[in-house]
Amino acid sequence: MSERLYLLPLWIRVWHWTNALLIIVLAVTGASLHFADPKLPLVEFSLAARIHDIAGLALVAAYTFFVVANIVSGNWWQYVPKPPGVLARCWRQTRWYLWGIFFGEPHPYPVTREVNFNALQAVIYWLVMYALLPVLLISGLVFMFPQLAPDRLFGFDGLLPVAILHYVAGATIVMFLISHVYLGTTGNTVGAMFKTMVTGWHEH
Ligand code: HEM
Repeated sequence: MSERLYLLPLWIRVWHWTNALLIIVLAVTGASLHFADPKLPLVEFSLAARIHDIAGLALVAAYTFFVVANIVSGNWWQYVPKPPGVLARCWRQTRWYLWGIFFGEPHPYPVTREVNFNALQAVIYWLVMYALLPVLLISGLVFMFPQLAPDRLFGFDGLLPVAILHYVAGATIVMFLISHVYLGTTGNTVGAMFKTMVTGWHEH
């Protein structure tokens, strides 16, 4: 008989889908601005710039909400990989994604209310949410308010390192997004984890 577990409160789900939508809008408009070609625009340049600015500010607000709500609710604890044996558990999980899953092996670390994320998820989500997104958002804000940037840095115009950081962080988030959506299909059924992210209920 399948067992149901109410795992994800409404605020996480609303934050998650708002965040996902904003990141997709930012990726499309960001790519359009970066690879700007007046003859072949993905989104017309000044429109892309306006949408990118507004969605970027909305992402700063959504991120602030995420950090505060994680502290207040105690959900931040899910993101902390618990020693001992973090590396060994990450490896066992990676081996399952690369090998075990194709041979019908059971999930090595079934979800519980206390431990929602396996060690690999915890490490990656932590890096994305507490290292990569802050770099992306802060470099974006400096771009929006360039008077915040130093005049010169390492002998270059002060905005150049900011531009490189912003681009690399954005490209990395897009790569995360692609692998994240693929790994989202590795629940008990292809759609199970997406359903949990919508309803909050996990079934196993
Ligand atoms: C189309 C876009 C996206 C889809 C379909 C998607 C799908 C999912 C699914 C199925 C889960 C539940 C599985 C799990 O707990 O690991 C999840 C959780 C999560 N996703 Fe996404 N995601 C998307 C975009 C993003 C983006 C852009 C980010 C961050 C930059 C992100 C960050 C997270 C985080 C942090 C969790 C764990 C939330 C929690 O339980 O506290 N997702 N996502």
